[in-house]
Amino acid sequence: MALLDVKDLRVAFKTADGVVNAVNGINLSLQRGQTLGIVGESGSGKSQLAFAIMGLLARNGTATGSVAFDGLQILNARAEVINPIRANGIAMIFQDPMTSMNPYLRVSDQMAEVLVHHKGMSMTDAVAECVRMLDAVRIPDAKSRVRLYPHEFSGGMRQRVMIAMALLCKPDLLIADEPTTALDVTVQAQIMRLLRDLQRDLGMATILITHDLGVVAGFCEEVIVMYGGQVMEQSPVDPLFAAPSHPYTRGLLRAIPRVDQLGEELASIPGTPPNMMRAPKGCPFAPRCEAAVAACTDQLNALTEFAPSRKRACNRTVEELE
Ligand SMILES: Nc1ncnc2c1ncn2[C@@H]1O[C@H](COP(=O)(O)OP(=O)(O)OP(=O)(O)O)[C@@H](O)[C@H]1O
Ligand SMILES: [Mg+2]
Repeated sequence: MALLDVKDLRVAFKTADGVVNAVNGINLSLQRGQTLGIVGESGSGKSQLAFAIMGLLARNGTATGSVAFDGLQILNARAEVINPIRANGIAMIFQDPMTSMNPYLRVSDQMAEVLVHHKGMSMTDAVAECVRMLDAVRIPDAKSRVRLYPHEFSGGMRQRVMIAMALLCKPDLLIADEPTTALDVTVQAQIMRLLRDLQRDLGMATILITHDLGVVAGFCEEVIVMYGGQVMEQSPVDPLFAAPSHPYTRGLLRAIPRVDQLGEELASIPGTPPNMMRAPKGCPFAPRCEAAVAACTDQLNALTEFAPSRKRACNRTVEELE
């Protein structure tokens, strides 16, 4: 049985101006220990997909479809069902560490509270475990730094504290939503290496959400490329980089900076992502796609297998795109 099984997940937000269809029929499944990257430009629905899985949508949002975690239906589940899973099953880390930390509490208190509350540990044992976890995320002098307040850490160190907090209860699944975008490039690389090491040591399944395909390459086995709340392409990482199939994936790949091409201008994809209030009836990427033909704007493309373990939602054949 898959650890996570998502079927036809849809997220819609009611707003004063109309309904925003942020996620439009996502299917995905993840085995224990597997790493999945979810990539797409800003607004493609990546975070809302994660929030829907975690039951953390904003109040004006509704989710439909199915999310099974370890066989248990958790989409729109009651608090008694979802709370234990949020504590021990699935942990999430966010782009901005301050969204998941309380600025008025010492790190020791907010971290230890998790263990006292969810694992029934004594305060002394809990703090000792927190120090071990801070050591594991390579915070120097963890024993005394555990007494600091969040703002007393640098941005990179705070991100490490947040990772330590997320991993305290040894989750089966970690969802990391843009865990390093707020950091400078060297610190980004350190944090990604740390996350990769922890992922391997703990053997936890991980979903890494990012707009940067480059980050996915060193971390994930499988990638989903999202646009307009839909999957454009899904593939194991290596063949995706060797031969990206969907025109959107190709556009994203051209936008990755490469050390051997420093100084050359990056080819960003012309145009802007669709307004999800007026979702197009055809392929959402068609208005920006250089390979689009008339049929592309008329009907949605089903995600279909075009090579072993690889799927794409595109009207044009692989040969036509050569
Ligand atoms: N509470 C809300 N009410 C209305 N629309 C919302 C709400 N929250 C998110 N949206 C819309 O849902 C769409 C998808 O947003 P989402 O946060 O998933 O994007 P994303 O892919 O994570 O982008 P980014 O890379 O910028 O984080 C966007 O158009 C966004 O404006
Ligand atoms: Mg996001």
